[in-house]
This record gives sequence, C-alpha cells and structure tokens, in this order.
Amino acid sequence: MADHISVTQISNYIGQDVVLKGWVYNRTDKGKLSFLLVRDGTGFIQCVAFKGDLTPELFETISHLPQETSVIITGAVREDKRAPGIPGGFEVGIKDLQVVQVAELDYPMSLKDHGVDFALDNRHLWLRMQSQWAILRVRATVMAATREWLDTNGFTEMSTPILTPAAAEGTTTLFETEYFDEGKAYLAQTGQLYNEANIFSFGKVYCYGPTFRAEKSKTRRHLTEFWMLEPEIAFCDLDGLMEVEEQMITHIAQRVIRDRTPELKFLGRDISKLENIKAPFPRISYDDAAKMIAELREKETDPEKKALLAFDWGIDFGAPHETAITQQFDKPVFVYGYPSAVKAFYMEPWPGRPEVCKSVDLLAPEGYGEICGGSERMSSHENLLARIRKEKLPEEAFKWYLELRKYGSVPHSGFGMGTERVTAWMCGIEHIREAIAFPRTIKRVYP
Ligand code: 4AD
Ligand code: MG
Repeated sequence: MADHISVTQISNYIGQDVVLKGWVYNRTDKGKLSFLLVRDGTGFIQCVAFKGDLTPELFETISHLPQETSVIITGAVREDKRAPGIPGGFEVGIKDLQVVQVAELDYPMSLKDHGVDFALDNRHLWLRMQSQWAILRVRATVMAATREWLDTNGFTEMSTPILTPAAAEGTTTLFETEYFDEGKAYLAQTGQLYNEANIFSFGKVYCYGPTFRAEKSKTRRHLTEFWMLEPEIAFCDLDGLMEVEEQMITHIAQRVIRDRTPELKFLGRDISKLENIKAPFPRISYDDAAKMIAELREKETDPEKKALLAFDWGIDFGAPHETAITQQFDKPVFVYGYPSAVKAFYMEPWPGRPEVCKSVDLLAPEGYGEICGGSERMSSHENLLARIRKEKLPEEAFKWYLELRKYGSVPHSGFGMGTERVTAWMCGIEHIREAIAFPRTIKRVYP
C-alpha cells in the first residue's frame, strides 16, 4: 500500500506511488487525458488520468467528476515544471481513484468571478477557493509566528475575559448584553486592563483572542469581531515597547516569507516588499507627522486629494493622513506622542506636556495604515483616578484596576496588534474581511 501523504510533502515522493485524499477543484478533459486539480487542505495539485492506464469505466467516471467531489487517489508522483497548483511543479499520474461522494451539480461557487456579496453569503464554500485558502494559510502563520516570538522571548500567554463590566476603549463601540442580576455586561474591546493585572504576577504576558467593536464605520479596515494580540510588559517604557513591536513584526514577516511563499505568489504579492520589513523601523512624533502632512498638502496639486489632507493639530489621523505618512517610508513607521484627547484614558501623559500622551501607533506601508496601537500606561494612582473622574467612567467598575497602582506600581507598556490587518498587509489584499474565515461587519453576521 502506498503512503497517504499531503500535497506539502509531495517533493519527497518523486517517482513513488502515493495516496492523496481531497476534493476535485477543477477538471479539464483533453481526449485521452483528464486533468484534475485536486486540493487536500495543504495545497493544490494536478492529477492526470490517462485513458490507456485505466479501465474504461474508471476513465469515464473521472472525466465526469463534478467540482468538489471528494476522492481518494492513488498514483505516481512526477516532477513537471509546467504543472499548475500551489505550490505547483508536480503532478500525480492516476492509477486508481475512489469516489467518496459525488458532489451535486449545483455547486454555487463555480470557478468564475462572483460578486463580493454573493461570495460573502457563500463564505462557507468560498473558503475552498485558492485565493481564500492562501490568505487564511498566511493568517495562521501570522498567528503562529506571533506566538512563537512571544513564547521564546519570556512572555506568558494569559486568557483574558470576553464578558467585562465596563468599556476600556470608548463607549461608542460597546456590545452590550444582560448579565443575570448583575446588570449589564459588555463584550471585550480589549484584554489590556486584565493584562495590566497579570504583569504584576508574570512580568511579561500576552493575550490573543477575539475582540469586539460595535464599529459604526464601514471601512476596509474594520470588523466588528477581530482577533487582537495584546502583549503587556512590566518595567517597560515607550522606547522599550517600540523595540518589542519591531522585533516581533520583523519575525512575523520573515516567517511568512519562509513558510508561505507559494501562497503569496499565488496571491500575486510582491515579496520584496515584505523582505524590507526588518527592524529598526523609523520613529516620528505626532508633531512631526503633522508637519509632514502640512508639507504634503502644500505640494499636492489634485484639489480632491488636497482636501482629504486637511488637518489641524489635535485631531486623529484619518486613512488619507496615514497613507500619506507611510508613503514617505518603505517600512512600517512608528508615530508616537498623540494628543491625549484622541486616545484612551489609561495612557501616561508626556512629561511636561499633559496634552500629549505616551502612545504609539505602528503604521504599515502601502496604504495599510495602523496595524498596532499601544502606549505606556498611567502608573500613578492619583493621575489615573483624576482621569477616570474627568472622563466620567464608572469608578466602581475600575476599582480593581486602580488598585494595581497601589501595590508595587511600575512603569509598564503594551500594545494591541490586529491579526486581520497584518494578514491583509502580508497578503496585499484590499479588504480585511477576507483575512478571517467568517467575517463580522455591521451588515453581516451570516453565515
Ligand atoms: O488601537 P486599539 O484600539 O488598541 C487597543 O485596543 C489597546 N487596548 C491595545 C493595547 O494596548 N493592549 O486596537 C489595537 C489594534 C489596532 O491597531 C488594529 O490593528 C486592531 O487592533 N483593530 C481592529 N482591527 C479590525 N477591526 C477593528 N474594528 C479594529 N479595531 C482595532
Ligand atoms: Mg488604535
């Protein structure tokens, strides 16, 4: 009996018989030959049926297999540079084929272009397509590389709660639910506050889980449910935080290149752009970024684009501003020291400039914008209490959080990275909804 192998292992089996288990993705018939493009979860490979090698019944069956039929194929592996597939370059000469189930003929996701709404309604099937498979393979590698870097650099993974008693990232994006006799509970917008408790026991921690924002904004960068990675570090200031971010992002990019080049090539990604992602990343202050925008606006000749770059000190950057800034660099760029008014309540004020905070956003090139947001946290009990009162946050819900500043408070920092934004950037795709298996947006909770 030949070994059951996966498409990723194929190069080790040249000249040998193997068993593949998968699905018929596409079929082309040319006289005595039937070419199947078969996917097995790990890749796509061409399997060729030659009439002369098979019984007439089997050849007849193969040359009529509908798309998505599940099959078990036995055949001989050979190298052929022209063979399509992901990674491609190999094919299997079919010796036997067993049908597990003949797929019904009305498969909705035929291999033509579908409108995006139709594709999203059929997301459970769209996932099988090469492009979607490639993107989600990159996503899995982004997540694995992230954990790998943190685990080998002294971080402990913690799980923070999804049901929480209060807002942490502003009250406008809260998902609310009734919580028995306790009143209202909210789906977590961040695990950060809990990680601030965790560092006082574990030093360096991270959480990696689903995060919820009732985002009213309908943009290509926003989901209502996304996966955020949040490291938090004791005895760490803003400079130390930027070092952690750039090392981790460098590692992610390098591992994506190492492990996912076939997927990236299929997606048409310019891999040289990813090779550039190496620490150190440039660091500019919000003030300097504001000046840069003013100069770019000055130089801009297209009146429409000029209008989009309108800017006053104190506002948060919009997508056009972020794009303009990042276009000045060929790497991700850190922008630090935003006005406190546009950032969350917990950020440490800039020494001597209370209107500015020790925040930092990491902006990705090629128009991808903010991929990480972080800060040094307020470490003084007095300042934090004053801020909570000023923002009229429910003091009772933050009692435990304030207490962290009473017993061995230290400077500490952390950031959050949006998995789908990083994945979209690595893949070079337009919209982050394709960077998660079942996207949730204001207009979609199905399927
Ligand atoms: O900048 P944000 O809102 O920061 C926080 O939530 C902090 N508490 C994180 C921390 O310091 N521990 O979100 C962090 C990142 C953003 O840079 C972005 O990549 C992603 O999370 N993100 C979203 N991704 C998709 N859809 C949304 N609606 C997102 N909101 C934030
Ligand atoms: Mg942010």
